[in-house]
Amino acid sequence: MSKSELRPYHWPSHLKKQTSQLWYGCDYNPDQWPEDVWDEDIRLMNQAGVNVVALAVFSWSRIEPREGVFDFDWLDRIITKLGKANIGVNLASATASPPAWLAQSHPEILWKDERGDTVWPGARQHWRPTSPVFRTYALKLCEAMAEHYQNNPYVVAWHVGNEYGCHNRFDYSDDAMRAFQRWCKHRYGTIDVVNEAWGTSFWSQRLNDFSQILPPRYIGAGNFQNPGRLLDFERFSSDALKEFFMAERDTLAKITPDIPLTTNFMVSSQGFTLDYDDWGSQVDFVSNDHYFMPGESHLDELTYSSGLVDSIARRMPWWLMEHSTSAVNWRPVNLRKEPGQLVRDALAHLSLGADAICYFQWRQSQAGAEKFHSAMLPHAGEDSQVFRDVCELGNDMEDLSDAGLAGTVLDKSPVALVFDYESQWASEHSSVPSRNVQHSTEPLDWYRALLDLGVRADVVPVRSGWDTYPLVVLPSLYLLSRKTSERLHDYVSKGGRVIVTYLSGISDNHDRIWLGGYPGTIRDLLGIRIEEFAPMDRSIEGSMDHLDLTNGTVAHDWADVITSLADDTHVLASYQADSWTGMDGVPALTLRNWKQGKAAYLGCRLGREGLRKTLPELLEAMKVKDLQKPDESQGDHLRVERVSEDGRNRFVFLFNRTRHPVQVQVEGQVLVGSLTGIDKDGKQAILQVNGALVQRVVGHRH
Ligand code: GAL
Repeated sequence: MSKSELRPYHWPSHLKKQTSQLWYGCDYNPDQWPEDVWDEDIRLMNQAGVNVVALAVFSWSRIEPREGVFDFDWLDRIITKLGKANIGVNLASATASPPAWLAQSHPEILWKDERGDTVWPGARQHWRPTSPVFRTYALKLCEAMAEHYQNNPYVVAWHVGNEYGCHNRFDYSDDAMRAFQRWCKHRYGTIDVVNEAWGTSFWSQRLNDFSQILPPRYIGAGNFQNPGRLLDFERFSSDALKEFFMAERDTLAKITPDIPLTTNFMVSSQGFTLDYDDWGSQVDFVSNDHYFMPGESHLDELTYSSGLVDSIARRMPWWLMEHSTSAVNWRPVNLRKEPGQLVRDALAHLSLGADAICYFQWRQSQAGAEKFHSAMLPHAGEDSQVFRDVCELGNDMEDLSDAGLAGTVLDKSPVALVFDYESQWASEHSSVPSRNVQHSTEPLDWYRALLDLGVRADVVPVRSGWDTYPLVVLPSLYLLSRKTSERLHDYVSKGGRVIVTYLSGISDNHDRIWLGGYPGTIRDLLGIRIEEFAPMDRSIEGSMDHLDLTNGTVAHDWADVITSLADDTHVLASYQADSWTGMDGVPALTLRNWKQGKAAYLGCRLGREGLRKTLPELLEAMKVKDLQKPDESQGDHLRVERVSEDGRNRFVFLFNRTRHPVQVQVEGQVLVGSLTGIDKDGKQAILQVNGALVQRVVGHRH
């Protein structure tokens, strides 16, 4: 179903060949420190229980100080020290940040912004993915690394590149232009098909041949890009970086076929740099970097993101490559983690399917742009709360390893919340009905509202198997290809339950509108027809800025003008509004029995609160198999389960979602209790704020 062929799953083996162990570690940058610090690093790593480090991620200038001159001595020394201390090495291809000599002798490797300005060295990732010159140098380095380390017993995995596209996602150089032209030719075959896809009859944008295709370079302030071209440029940019990654990967794999490879993704509720679902099929195992969202959504956002990672990893154990022990350095104000959050966050990632927990980074830098970024070993040294928490987590990880957590998988939820990178890209363009909503506006609200009712949803990419779930939610799924629409019809006809929201199914995969009333290809299924949108803006005085619904909730930002219904479409809620709005009595929430299934439509933005109030009745009406009765009293904590392959071992993770202590049941053997107290008879536990409890329950679920 996905765009690319799936690469076989290959998880790194531990040094002692223990397969049942979790990995625990960090990025390690020994080249930022004098060598006499290394022994202390290793002593403290052992103390903390670290068993893996990602090494040499930004070390190109140390490894190849001058063109063609390689210095592996220092790297050999540290790898040997680490290995002897039983710490495995996840070795980088080291290509993320090219050295000064390369940019000096080949400035044509530097990427260009949309105005054609060169992005100069001074930070990192200043290379263009489509530069043949850069590629040659980077692959030479990969080859040298692989040849040098092919028989090293301590290298357990390859860490290819680093966060591809973090800083060089969009390159507008001539190299990129030529590569974009080739990409379009490959995708469309003839220029006429491109013209059709991009709607170039509009504004005289018709192209005569592929050489006229440009990246979406600067068009002047206040002007509007062709959305079809923009969307394809976003696809192309993800593919161009992927192709570069694959070239590195294949160079390494040719020499070291037995060493598993990965690269760290940046999946989060707000990160859409690459089509990570598509990339997920190109790694031996998936790894992700996740940085916490400070504030009240912290835990929910984290588990939402990790849920998506788990789906991208095809529900196989994945690697948390980076997160922070406390503050980051790149927000305007960098909040530290609250007491308990260091351990709790790691346990939350584990609960959602991670078998490796790593941090950026081991020792907090003394100099450079990240000197204020937290680390496992802070500026204050080992006598610090952060380091004590790091050691506590190391113990917890060992206990969980001993109990057999590694290799178990996330228990499937009955609800799939569908996410689509391409819908996000298309809906964040500038010429849309409202910039206040896009695809990503909805999923986290739905996820949180469901959690408030004690239901944890799986977050599932549109290309994967959402149709195996009893209930599917399509939250503002803006693009709907003919194929996905057919899948949806098939799913509902066989008894599936679907809830579709506003801004779904508006365009095809070229961002060409489906005609005849919205949402074009699924009107029949839903039994509704929308003629117009009614976006709302609180800042326009005297305009309709909200809408009351008959079920007591309030819509903001967006409402659909549903003008006709099928005879058997039931209206569950409608708007109550002044007549001048034209919205009084317009249906807001509908439900239709279609063939064997049921299809609901919500035509407005209700936000988390409104959804929480609306969902119990809606879910009851939809009669979803395996879905427990939504219950607000269960919303004070999050429950996640991982299960062993045979279903006999279940690991139940419970997390406090509130700002007060909450009481939960003890169901099995308590493995970890962080900020958690168990009562005397061992039946109840109190989770303090940021508290977490992990227990093992043996035996199949009843
Ligand atoms: C990531 C990056 C790391 C480090 C970290 C800081 O984007 O991969 O190298 O910069 O952010 O949060």
